[in-house]
Amino acid sequence: MADKDPMKIKILKNGPYMVSGNVPLFEQIMVTNEEGHVCEWSEGKEYPLKERYTICRCGASKRKPFCDGSHIKINFDGTEVASKENYMEKARKLETKDFILNDVWDLCDHSRFCLRGGGIRELLKSEDPEDIKLAIEEAKSCPSGRLVLWGKETGKPVEPEFEPSIVLVNDPQKKCDGPVWVRGGIPIESADGSTYEVRNRVTLCRCGKSENKPFCDGRHWMSAEEKQAFRDKWISPEE
Ligand code: FES
Repeated sequence: MADKDPMKIKILKNGPYMVSGNVPLFEQIMVTNEEGHVCEWSEGKEYPLKERYTICRCGASKRKPFCDGSHIKINFDGTEVASKENYMEKARKLETKDFILNDVWDLCDHSRFCLRGGGIRELLKSEDPEDIKLAIEEAKSCPSGRLVLWGKETGKPVEPEFEPSIVLVNDPQKKCDGPVWVRGGIPIESADGSTYEVRNRVTLCRCGKSENKPFCDGRHWMSAEEKQAFRDKWISPEE
């Protein structure tokens, strides 16, 4: 019997994500708490397992999440502009007594899991174990892998464990779909044949509007001005 294809996502030039290798596909819905902060997921639709499928990348398909060829009709420009440097080469660093928080702003999908309790940066400066527990949870909840928290004592990143899978994010608070959340180290091959760094969690754009393609940059719900205001509010210029 022939070996099964390994799991892989191939980005087609100005076209969809071609997924192969029986990658599980399901939907998850972002849940907010009483204060209006995103805090957890609820389970959504689970799609039947398929050897291959193509996920819409331009946002125009009438058969979402799958591609229906609309990228051709709308003349979609899916040019990949994201840096192919490894995460650690790009990451900014916030150091506290027990932790190092690495942050690559460009990867932020604006799913807002890191804003509870005054935000992850404030929580990490606290001496209160409950604040530290929440900070760890927030870092692990970041779908895009923009934030990675390292314990100084262990010298290891605090990463969630994922089976290789793809989650289609739904964001009811912003009344829209979010990115394609790729989990568990599935390789992503660029249209030019090179491979992006294999990571435990990344978020790919599926609305067609990101200015950091193929990754989501939050444009599925926010304007460039809102994105800048968000950055000014939550990240200190000195960091
Ligand atoms: S899905 Fe987030 S920017 Fe397109």
